[in-house]
Amino acid sequence: MQVTIFGAGYVGLVTGVVLAELGHRVTVIEVVAEKVQSIRQGTSPIYEHGLDAMLTRVLASGNFQVTDTSEGVVESADVIFIAVGTPPLASGEADLRYVRQAALAIGHGLGSRKRQVVVNKATVPIGSANQVEVWIEDGFDGKPAEDVYTVASNPEFLREGTAIYDTLYPDRIVLGADRSWALEQLKALYRPILDQTFSPPPEVMRPRGLSAVALVETDRISAEMIKYAANAFLATKISFANEIANICERVGADVIEVSRGIGLDRRIGDRFLNAGAGWGGSCFGKDLSALIYTAEEYGYHPQLLQSTVSVNRDQRHRIVSRLQNALKTIKGRRVAIWGLAFKPGTDDLRDAPSLTVIAELSRLGARIHVYDPVAMPTLKRDYPELEVVYANGAIEALAGAEALIVLTEWPAFSQIGLDQIAQALSRPILIDGRNLWTPGAARAAGLDYHGVGRS
Ligand SMILES: NC(=O)c1ccc[n+]([C@@H]2O[C@H](COP(=O)([O-])OP(=O)(O)OC[C@H]3O[C@@H](n4cnc5c(N)ncnc54)[C@H](O)[C@@H]3O)[C@@H](O)[C@H]2O)c1
Repeated sequence: MQVTIFGAGYVGLVTGVVLAELGHRVTVIEVVAEKVQSIRQGTSPIYEHGLDAMLTRVLASGNFQVTDTSEGVVESADVIFIAVGTPPLASGEADLRYVRQAALAIGHGLGSRKRQVVVNKATVPIGSANQVEVWIEDGFDGKPAEDVYTVASNPEFLREGTAIYDTLYPDRIVLGADRSWALEQLKALYRPILDQTFSPPPEVMRPRGLSAVALVETDRISAEMIKYAANAFLATKISFANEIANICERVGADVIEVSRGIGLDRRIGDRFLNAGAGWGGSCFGKDLSALIYTAEEYGYHPQLLQSTVSVNRDQRHRIVSRLQNALKTIKGRRVAIWGLAFKPGTDDLRDAPSLTVIAELSRLGARIHVYDPVAMPTLKRDYPELEVVYANGAIEALAGAEALIVLTEWPAFSQIGLDQIAQALSRPILIDGRNLWTPGAARAAGLDYHGVGRS
């Protein structure tokens, strides 16, 4: 099928490359010229396992192209994805200005011959399918004939760091549409994934036993709600684990044991129960704010969702309080931070706990030395106002530091010996914001160890 995608970010680029790998003919439109240039040369502007190799392959196959203009690429498309950013406004409401720009361009380029499906793949507030229709018609300058096009909702659930894997082998595909032909067209597009009939690319093998992917066919409003409800639940699960961790600390329980003990209950499940420095990333905070905003707009007070957010905010500050308790005065002290990315496997820093911790430590006068295996260039580029020293390696960051704070569970960190950490620090304080080590082992190595929810 002919596919056009607006936006070459995590969602648009990965979706485009995967659909091209499956044999569709894909054109991605991106407004940032440097991104277009880099993608054309086979280098993805974002870090995702296997993406560069697949990108090089689909560019060579002729199935994939990227452009900076929507001229001439809308009319021929069977499916047009909107995968642009939807960042939060100060009010918490989602900023739909990029969605609007894309929708106007789609209206402008719409053909008049065939059934074109415009798909909201970006996370957009409930009711946005209707709104996008209005913008498309503004761009078209009138009302297209019946069934020339329709807007469908196909929310994205990929996780940064495993984006290609999640796109090829998702837990489910959600399609919301109010035209049956649109559902049929989208099912045809995703058929190789739904039936798992494609040959897995060498970079991302198929999980054993996966022979079909669940499909949720529903109306547009429910599809939009599914995305928000999923993210709100996952964030709530982590905030729940953090609240339990804070009680564990007070009563002398170990949250790792508690999470294991409850996670074995299949009604609860063991995923997203890790206590630590809190959740972050481009989606949870933004999507929760948008859902809270929507609830209030419709006269409902979402107290559980608001608590999920406030528990998370406090959890980040608690990392700094722990350091303050251990160090007493922070002013003028050198502090090392391992891990900037909001989770391992990505260089994305949007709403990362590290940003809050760095800002708070700077305000308190600490001299901060940081190390992250992939996210340091992003911090340099996007947050030049944060005053930090970049180390070339994890151990280098510790030289002369009076404490180490760990904020991302990169596997390489837990492979570093606790003795080595204790020796490299000038004062052996370890604030383990991801519970990478056990308190006993850390103390045996001579570290003044502070985990989350265990003592
Ligand atoms: N990142 C994730 O893990 C993830 C997962 C699921 C859903 N989502 C949702 O998907 C959407 C996109 O997220 P993302 O992380 O890919 O964002 P992103 O910021 O990485 O990418 C968006 C891209 O769209 C481009 N763009 C903006 N306006 C454009 C226009 N008019 N025409 C063409 N390109 C335009 C931007 O330059 C940018 O490169 C958001 O709504 C997000 O909530 C993201």
